[in-house]
Amino acid sequence: MAILVTGGAGYIGSHTVLFLLEQGEQVIVLDNLQKGHAGALSDVTFYHGDIRDDQLLDTIFTTHSIDTVIHFAANSLVGESVKRPIEYYENNVIGTHTLLKKMLEHDVKKIVFSSTAATYGEPVQIPIQESDPTIPTNPYGETKLAIEKMFHWCQEAYGLQYVCLRYFNAAGADPNGRIGEDHSPESHLIPIVLQVALGQRERVAIFGDDYQTEDGSCIRDYIHVMDLANAHYLACEHLRKDGQSGSFNLGNGKGFSVKEVIEVCRQVTGHPIPAEIAPRRSGDPASLIASSEKAQTILGWEPKYPSLETMVEHAWNWHKEHPHGYSTENKDKQ
Ligand code: UFG
Repeated sequence: MAILVTGGAGYIGSHTVLFLLEQGEQVIVLDNLQKGHAGALSDVTFYHGDIRDDQLLDTIFTTHSIDTVIHFAANSLVGESVKRPIEYYENNVIGTHTLLKKMLEHDVKKIVFSSTAATYGEPVQIPIQESDPTIPTNPYGETKLAIEKMFHWCQEAYGLQYVCLRYFNAAGADPNGRIGEDHSPESHLIPIVLQVALGQRERVAIFGDDYQTEDGSCIRDYIHVMDLANAHYLACEHLRKDGQSGSFNLGNGKGFSVKEVIEVCRQVTGHPIPAEIAPRRSGDPASLIASSEKAQTILGWEPKYPSLETMVEHAWNWHKEHPHGYSTENKDKQ
């Protein structure tokens, strides 16, 4: 049986596809390439299209024997979602509604979903547990939470089986350097810092140094993208064994401040990486750290690359080799 990966040409999606192929899985990718890169795809069956395209979904589910869907396709920037909520509700909620409707029509009842720590909003405790209140502070988190709830009710009504993986901060790249992280424009901390090391930016802005944290900058829980990929594979296995549905945090349980991340990047790259204090970015909680005990206990997940140095090293290796990401080298493919 094959696994359909929507959004499989994106950052976390493409690493998951690679990981699944290495486990011997048969993988079908559906991606509209709005954010993803054809150059990030290995040798898989690829459909260039949208999850809101009913007919295309019919074709895919009719052509292939798919038992599980891993669903990444979504808009995923917190700040952008505040400015363009309609787009987020359309791509994320309506898109998933169409996908789910078609899955159920074709009797495909297992889904692993790319969810987020943004479903919690301001944490009531650190580390955050899955049973903590979910009160998102932006439309991105709201759309992901709405989808999680849709899955719950579809389980009750139609026997859908689901695993929602609430990632904290994805980082790093394929340890073998085949693929990496490329957003345009870039908004994530580590790739931005590495662009400074590459001479593509003069400095990095630290968004706020007056938070209630030890050094005043925000604290996040960074998790290697290959550890996330492994969690998706384990979630598929879990559902194939009729394991219980639910939501699972994925993080290392250890927080690093923005200033600490920049320092690690200085050590790894050997570049001074100038930084300056800038105003806070709206919607940023001071500290987000995961308890991943549930994923460890129920899915049997264990991070293989918990060290931030390793994540930065893997990211740096890829960025050095691909200073312009996928853009120039894969033009012919896109
Ligand atoms: N930051 C800076 N300067 C920058 C970029 C980021 O100081 O130039 C700070 C941010 O303010 C934040 C931290 O670095 O405190 C990490 O920021 P990222 O943009 O890398 O990541 P976020 O924590 O904002 O968001 C990530 C994912 C979201 C997800 C969220 C869940 O990108 O999709 O984690 O915690 F919702």
